[in-house]
Amino acid sequence: MKSNSFVLRGDLCDSRSPQKLRTLEKGYLVCIDGLCAGRFPVLPEAYADLPLIDCAGKLVIPGLTDLHVHAPQYPFRGLGMDLELLDWLQARTFPEEAKYADLTYAQAAYGKFVHDLRRSPNTRACVFATVHRAATAALMELLEDSGLVCAVGKVNMDRDCPDALREETSASLEETRQWLEETAGRFERVTPILTPRFVPSCSDTLMKGLGALAAERGLPVQSHLSENRGEVELVSRLRPDARFYGEAYDRDDLFGAHGKAIMAHCVLSGEEETALMGVRGVFVAHCPQSNANLASGVAPVRRYLERGLRVGLGSDVAGGVHMSILRAMADAIQCSKLRWAIQDKSLKPLTVAEAFWLGTAGGGEFFGRVGRFEPGYELDAVVIDDAPGLPPSPLSVAERLERAIYLAEDRDILHKFVRGRQLF
Ligand code: GUN
Ligand code: FE
Repeated sequence: MKSNSFVLRGDLCDSRSPQKLRTLEKGYLVCIDGLCAGRFPVLPEAYADLPLIDCAGKLVIPGLTDLHVHAPQYPFRGLGMDLELLDWLQARTFPEEAKYADLTYAQAAYGKFVHDLRRSPNTRACVFATVHRAATAALMELLEDSGLVCAVGKVNMDRDCPDALREETSASLEETRQWLEETAGRFERVTPILTPRFVPSCSDTLMKGLGALAAERGLPVQSHLSENRGEVELVSRLRPDARFYGEAYDRDDLFGAHGKAIMAHCVLSGEEETALMGVRGVFVAHCPQSNANLASGVAPVRRYLERGLRVGLGSDVAGGVHMSILRAMADAIQCSKLRWAIQDKSLKPLTVAEAFWLGTAGGGEFFGRVGRFEPGYELDAVVIDDAPGLPPSPLSVAERLERAIYLAEDRDILHKFVRGRQLF
């Protein structure tokens, strides 16, 4: 019997659809060779011999996906939160990221980031590193050892940043190829993702070179899109050839035509951009806390859901301060309510079920069949002590989930499983 075959007993909750939660009190979740074999009210005879992990009375939910996080920004969370995006990048972000030229600093800082991510309810993440090749490989190594499943990108930037971070265009492409070669085949759980920072940081030549690389190797791409008013205006000056921001990525083959693409934020995406994201299957990484902290606004997530776009949640550390995607669910609901109350009555606030879906199945789809307790899905699960120290209460499983979204801390995460492997 393989160690990643087992039965987990507990109060199960996952998503049936973006609108519908699905709960099973006192249920059995069966994992065979890392894949979900189903969820059952009574354990079928065929699975009776599997090891039983008894989490009776605890909440069991799918592992969460952070679709957008900057690992090197972890040390300065909470600083510069009275600035807007472009000033914050110059004042706080770029000086911190420059430190990752020093591999010793990078090892220590990334070590803390990975330690905390491992303890969080997130099981998957799409991670920006910095421009530095060696430090990026070190981050991949640490993440691999943690047991989490991650896509990691060496950042590309050849303009509009301090000299310490700016790459020559051809060197940026060469370093990226070398990074891909050096790390190829080294990891079971960590994969590379091309990471042009955003249009203001990347010349047309660099973007085209990365687009060619994405097409040549079928690599996924992650970047930022239509985040903040000042940024969108800057892009319209920098790329007069593009009718809207997303078209700049699309012209350079970085918008999902050759592999998956994640675009963080999409706060200010208009009709044409939204339509193109739909056509290309772009994943929107909704980062509500960051969008509030950096005065960017609130993305029209309900519109994206109604149009059938792929949407997940991102912490966007350090634009966002909190790594837990449970917190991002709560923030998504709160921000959608503010948007509804003060900006646009046509889009109703997000429901708990919708926010939960975004943080589980919505973002999980980037990694394949992930984020639900369906047969054939990779089994990522988190066991939560959702009422530590509280007397028993008659709440339903759905109500307990709702409360956990707002209240659960990392210390309440009792167990975590990724692809059927128990991390703790
Ligand atoms: N746009 C370009 N770089 C960044 C970054 O590091 N964080 C956020 N929130 N937006 C960006
Ligand atoms: Fe970001």
